Amino acid sequence: MERKIIRTGDGSVTIHLSQWDEQYHSKHGAIAEARHVFIKMGLEYWVGWNKEKELSILEIGFGTGLNALITFLEAKKLELNINYTGVEAYPVSENEIQELNYAQMLSPGNQITFFQKMHNSPWDVPVAISKNFQLEKQQKRFEEIQDVNAYDLVFFDAFGARVQPELWTEEIFAKMFVAMKPNSVLVTYSAKGSVRRAMQTAGFIVERLPGPPGKREMLRALKK
Ligand SMILES: C[S@@+](CC[C@H](N)C(=O)[O-])C[C@H]1O[C@@H](n2cnc3c(N)ncnc32)[C@H](O)[C@@H]1O
Repeated sequence: MERKIIRTGDGSVTIHLSQWDEQYHSKHGAIAEARHVFIKMGLEYWVGWNKEKELSILEIGFGTGLNALITFLEAKKLELNINYTGVEAYPVSENEIQELNYAQMLSPGNQITFFQKMHNSPWDVPVAISKNFQLEKQQKRFEEIQDVNAYDLVFFDAFGARVQPELWTEEIFAKMFVAMKPNSVLVTYSAKGSVRRAMQTAGFIVERLPGPPGKREMLRALKK
């Protein structure tokens, strides 16, 4: 599939897949979307709800590592200890990683080394990126996830249901529900009615929330 690096609304880049006319992030701003959907509505909400400082995060689609980098920076700011698992079947190439401007934009100076460390870390073993952030990139398909009661927060960031409908089903959300602990949170940029209903059937309590720039709504699913 043809892949191209494009600039989004806030100046951060993303990868565009021509055949699907789909991107890794919102065209209106990759960083803005990640901050709103995953940090504000996900991480900050979980911390406010659980009042704890240590958590395990599962990311559905590690991709460019943008969500992992933003979470890493936020963990430092909020003094959190995070175990971050990023599942990805088709890792981004070395050349593409070189073109991503996230580290420069988010924290000019020393964060490039942390972003590089994330991408250079081996697959399928936990690696300490810093003393309060552990990353395990797992190279496998989402369909193979078998974890039970393991995660406090899930960043559900698959390609859209328009191009990968098989990843937005009741079966996949049931898998997420089993993988999650009590009082946990799943957030996604999608606001589709069929996605909301699949989450509810899997056992989640689902809220519709204001979306990131350029999107009216998004979804947050709670496992109580
Ligand atoms: C929207 S992108 C993820 C963006 C990523 N969170 C980021 O910040 O760059 C979706 C990702 O899911 C991966 N993917 C697609 N189908 C998959 C599958 N069945 N199993 C595992 N990964 C898959 C793609 O390779 C892509 O990296």
